[in-house]
Amino acid sequence: MTTPLLEVIDLSTHFATREGVVKAVNGVSFSVGRGEILGLVGESGSGKSVTGFSLIGLIDPPGRIAGGTVKLEGRDLIGMAPAALRAIRGKRISMVFQDPSMTLNPVLTVGDQMRLALRAHQRLSGPEAQRRLIDVLSRVGIPDPARRLEAYPHQFSGGMRQRIAIAIALLHGPELVIADEPTTALDVSIQAQILTEMKSLARETGTALIWISHDLATISSMADRIAVMYAGRIVESGPTAQVLRDPRHPYTRGLLESLPATATAGTELRSIPGTTPSLLRLPPGCPFAPRCPGAQALCAAEPPETAVGARAYRCHFPLGAAA
Ligand SMILES: Nc1ncnc2c1ncn2[C@@H]1O[C@H](COP(=O)(O)OP(=O)(O)OP(=O)(O)O)[C@@H](O)[C@H]1O
Ligand SMILES: [Mg+2]
Repeated sequence: MTTPLLEVIDLSTHFATREGVVKAVNGVSFSVGRGEILGLVGESGSGKSVTGFSLIGLIDPPGRIAGGTVKLEGRDLIGMAPAALRAIRGKRISMVFQDPSMTLNPVLTVGDQMRLALRAHQRLSGPEAQRRLIDVLSRVGIPDPARRLEAYPHQFSGGMRQRIAIAIALLHGPELVIADEPTTALDVSIQAQILTEMKSLARETGTALIWISHDLATISSMADRIAVMYAGRIVESGPTAQVLRDPRHPYTRGLLESLPATATAGTELRSIPGTTPSLLRLPPGCPFAPRCPGAQALCAAEPPETAVGARAYRCHFPLGAAA
C-alpha cells in the first residue's frame, strides 16, 4: 500500500484549565490521500478546529499535544523542530481560518502581505512575484487583481477577503489545505460559489483538502470522504455517499435527520435531544450514550473501532450492520 499524504494516528490535544484538563481531541485517527477531499463534521465544540490546529503545530499553552503522530508522507510532524515545521507550514500544508482576519493584517495592503507570505518560502524577482500574485488572485475570482493588490483588507467585502485568505493559502501550491469553516460567516449564495470554486481548484491542482464544517450539507457537497466528530473523537468515517445513505453511528443519523434536504417532505426536522458532554469530565464509555436512542448497558464501556472496508465506526450497536 502507498503511504497516504497525511496520516494521523491516535492524536490527543489537551488544554489545562483552572477547572481541569479539557480533552478537546481524544485519540483521533484518520488519513488523507493525495488530492483527496476529507470533510470533518461535528457540532460546535466537538474538536474540529483544535484537530486542524494540531496538525500544523498551532497549539499554544495551556494547550499541548498529549499524544499521537501526524505523518506527512511518513514523516512525523509532532515534536519536529520549530524551524523545520515552519518550512512545511504555509508551503506544503496551509490553513484557511474561519475568520479571514486571522490571516489578513489590516494595516498592510493585500499585495504587501502576499509578498511577505511569498518571501517566507521563496525568492522571486519583483516582476515574477507580481505575476504570481495576480495569477493566484484571479484563480480565486478577484476581479482586476493588479489594481486590487494595492487595496487594504477593509476595502474588500467579506467574501472577497475570504477569497484573498484562500489565495494566500494556495500561494505555494501546497499539497494539503486545511479549511476551517471558511464560508460560515458568508451569505449562502457566496458560500455556495466559494465551495464550488474551491473544489474545482483543488481538483485542478491535485491539492488535498480537509474541509471542516458543522454543516453536514456543506460537507456532503464537497467531500470524497467524511469523518464525523463527537466530543473529541471520530465516531464514524467513510466514503461520503455511503455514510449519507447508510449511516452506522446513531449520531451520524441524528445529524442527517436534522438536515432539511434529507428529511422527508412534510415531516418535522428532528434535532438531537440533549446537549454535547463537557470535555472536562467525559463519562467513561461512549460519549454519545446519554443522548442515544439505542443506548444499552454495554455503552458504559468504550466502544472499539470497527473497520469494514472503507468505513469505520465506534459503536456497540451500529445501525444497519448485521447484528
Ligand atoms: N485555548 C483553549 N483553552 C481551553 N479550552 C479550549 C481552548 N481552545 C479550545 N478549547 C476547547 O476545546 C474544545 C474543542 O474546541 P474546537 O474549537 O476544536 O471546537 P469546534 O469543533 O471547532 O467547534 P466550532 O464548530 O464551534 O468551531 C472546546 O470544548 C473548547 O472549549
Ligand atoms: Mg471550530
